[in-house]
Amino acid sequence: MTTHPSPPPAPTESFLVRHDFLLRRLHSLSGLIPVGAYMVIHLATNASVLESPGAFQKNVYAIHSLGKLLPVVEWVFIFIPILFHAIFGFVIIGSGRANTSQYPRGSNVRYTLQRITGMIAFAFIAWHVFHMRGWIHESWWVTHVTEPLGGAQFKPYNAASSAGRALQGPLINGLYLIGITSCVFHLANGMWSMGITWGVWTTPLAQKRALRICAAFGVLLLVVGLSAQYGMWSVGREPKLEEAIQAEDKQFKSQVDAGLVEKETEKRTKQPPKDAAASRQETSKSVEK
Ligand code: HEM
Repeated sequence: MTTHPSPPPAPTESFLVRHDFLLRRLHSLSGLIPVGAYMVIHLATNASVLESPGAFQKNVYAIHSLGKLLPVVEWVFIFIPILFHAIFGFVIIGSGRANTSQYPRGSNVRYTLQRITGMIAFAFIAWHVFHMRGWIHESWWVTHVTEPLGGAQFKPYNAASSAGRALQGPLINGLYLIGITSCVFHLANGMWSMGITWGVWTTPLAQKRALRICAAFGVLLLVVGLSAQYGMWSVGREPKLEEAIQAEDKQFKSQVDAGLVEKETEKRTKQPPKDAAASRQETSKSVEK
């Protein structure tokens, strides 16, 4: 009997259909490396604020020591992979081409939650980057969009105090709670489904074991993420705020003295911390009177 090779795809078939296998593998891989790996490092770095605001500030200086390379590294290893993963993620959700047949029974809820948390993660990451960084640094955008909408709150040389101030209030904290929890669930559950995509755990028993390990990883990462949120929140209010500003001032002075950073910089809280402290004391004195 003669066997016929499968016919080449019709030229009318879309790019997505023709490269479905490769795109799905790239989507799966990008979720773990670099996006997932970056998320773990990002949450752990933020949690260093629990050690002290000075420890967090040191980590931020280490990241910023990349100088002009920093935006290149951010785009190549963070933003482009997240955009690819998110755009193809929306294509998967929109196409409705579910691969539930590959999933064992009982995982349907997690399968749906993976899609819901993916969409929440997209909205959260977009807003979080705006809230802390402001997206674009052009002056017209800063004046007309960033400032009126309360974006770009993070100042790298006042790392913990600026992030802490930005994290005050129940609405902001509620949004961060939902965002962090969704991202963590999405990564932990995604790691489990990755094992199926790549054929790492194939038997029901192996999948059950893998599920426990991924769940434990998720719980641990959630503790790290929410501790970081709590740590920042507590530094953003007195009495810790003043101490944080003093520690940041000290490090900034040594960086300037060593010629590593410029004295006049946008990367610092606009009102000089010393004046801020003085004006706070003035206010409290006038209130006492
Ligand atoms: C915090 C950032 C994100 C991380 C760390 C991440 C990580 C992952 C991982 C590891 C997977 C498993 C891949 C597999 O099953 O083979 C996955 C799947 C998925 N992600 Fe993400 N992701 C993130 C953001 C997003 C965003 C913003 C979207 C946009 C909607 C999205 C949509 C999806 C979808 C639809 C799947 C399921 C793919 C499938 O079952 O075929 N993800 N993600």
